[in-house]
Amino acid sequence: MDVTWVAQPRQSRFLNEVMDPNGADEILYGGAAGGGKTDALLIAAIIYAQNGGHVLFLRRTYAQLEGKPIPRSKQLIPRSMATYKESKRQWIFFSGGSIKFGYLEKKGDEENYQGHEYALIVYDELTHFDLSQYIYLLSRNRSTEARFIASGLKPKIIAASNPGSRGHAWVKGRWIDGHEPEVVWEAEMPDEVKASLAAQGLAVEPRKRVFIPAKLQDNQKLLAVDPGYLARLLELPESQQKMLLHGEWDYFEGMAFPEWKPDLHVCKPFRIPETWRRFRAVDYGQAAPFCCLWFAVDQDSEIWVYRELYGVVPHASDQASKIVELSLMFNDLDEKVPEKIDFTILDSACWAKNQFGESVAETYMNNGVQVWQADKNRLQGKARVHEWLKPIIGPDGKLKSRIHIFDTCKNLIEQLSTLPTDPNNPDDVDTDAPDHAYDTLRYGLMSRPQPPKRTEPEKTVIQRHKERIIKKAKNQTRRWA
Ligand SMILES: Nc1ncnc2c1ncn2[C@@H]1O[C@H](COP(=O)(O)OP(=O)(O)OP(=O)(O)O)[C@@H](O)[C@H]1O
Ligand SMILES: [Mg+2]
Repeated sequence: MDVTWVAQPRQSRFLNEVMDPNGADEILYGGAAGGGKTDALLIAAIIYAQNGGHVLFLRRTYAQLEGKPIPRSKQLIPRSMATYKESKRQWIFFSGGSIKFGYLEKKGDEENYQGHEYALIVYDELTHFDLSQYIYLLSRNRSTEARFIASGLKPKIIAASNPGSRGHAWVKGRWIDGHEPEVVWEAEMPDEVKASLAAQGLAVEPRKRVFIPAKLQDNQKLLAVDPGYLARLLELPESQQKMLLHGEWDYFEGMAFPEWKPDLHVCKPFRIPETWRRFRAVDYGQAAPFCCLWFAVDQDSEIWVYRELYGVVPHASDQASKIVELSLMFNDLDEKVPEKIDFTILDSACWAKNQFGESVAETYMNNGVQVWQADKNRLQGKARVHEWLKPIIGPDGKLKSRIHIFDTCKNLIEQLSTLPTDPNNPDDVDTDAPDHAYDTLRYGLMSRPQPPKRTEPEKTVIQRHKERIIKKAKNQTRRWA
């Protein structure tokens, strides 16, 4: 190894985590550009290979591998340690280990690694990859090499990334949201995965994850040899500075809804008054997730998205039944009764008939959900969502939103905060990213919801309480009579 390479403090933190057999199994080292991430990934790869492990080092494209990791590996790995096979893009270590450079340019390229076994899988610029590729390769992360097992190291997946790009949402969701940086946490394993592992007689060990932030200031070596680099980053537009200089994950260039502000748009759930109009919108999916959102319109025409149903439910009849099951509200007697829903909007493609002559729309209607066709114009729909998200000045002079989303609508919140713009059409969202909850919102807002008629003023809690007591008393008297 290049003897001049000495880990800088943040790189040490990352490498210690990689080498700790009780540490995290999936480590994201992320943030600002130039923080020393790629170097740290290569050093981790070398440590594993020297201990007899096989390593897969991935970038999205071949050109990206040739741009940095491969030439840098040639500087870092001495020929006394390993030989490089150009045709296979692989270092063969004399220890028995190896480092293979690979790329997953197209969806499905990950299948080329079927049957392979890697003690360490390394992703450089993880947000360039798709979640499906990442999940597929999880199954390749193991080792049966005696020398590697004796080393005490553990099979792991490590990744580095700047914020932004197509995979921003899933990467942020998998490592960052809701977790303290640098604190290792155990990921909840979905029940079906637990069941499948147990059925195969495999141990159900929780996977541990950690996010280690990287800042440019961490890389004093780079700043010493290239003091102008910081000044060049400071020349970038503010949005890019946020990502590349400060490594911020809440904002990214190419974000489809930059006006999205959780403090303005997200609210705590409360009981929706009975007099507010309610409606629903549904984005249908069979193998893909389907989504239903419940909307309420208040007396001031503001919209409240108060419930979300999201997931893979293959049969339209089951989807409709679940929607009916969830559409309940409390009446004045604190009893749960079916909600009065003005209308339900559904993807217009659902009116196509299947081979038995029944459309999804009909199945919905036969199962208790009356549906109307959604206006699916993508560009007008996106413009409508922007209009609703745009904050206005409230009566107190402060910014306020006219659309409010209950914090229980997790998928909608995640998608609005992370959806990227379509790289080929800046007026649309990137449909490669998960967007079913966003599409549902779009259908709902395109249905031109009307506010409730101003009849009588909203009842106060005390009034409702009084009425409830009187009603109960009347019922009681009736029973005694
Ligand atoms: N410990 C170190 N010793 C010597 N040089 C280092 C060290 N760490 C990083 N460098 C050098 O600093 C420069 C930037 O590091 P690196 O490419 O790893 O950063 P990065 O975080 O991956 O950047 P980017 O976000 O642009 O991909 C490189 O030239 C690299 O070789
Ligand atoms: Mg890098």
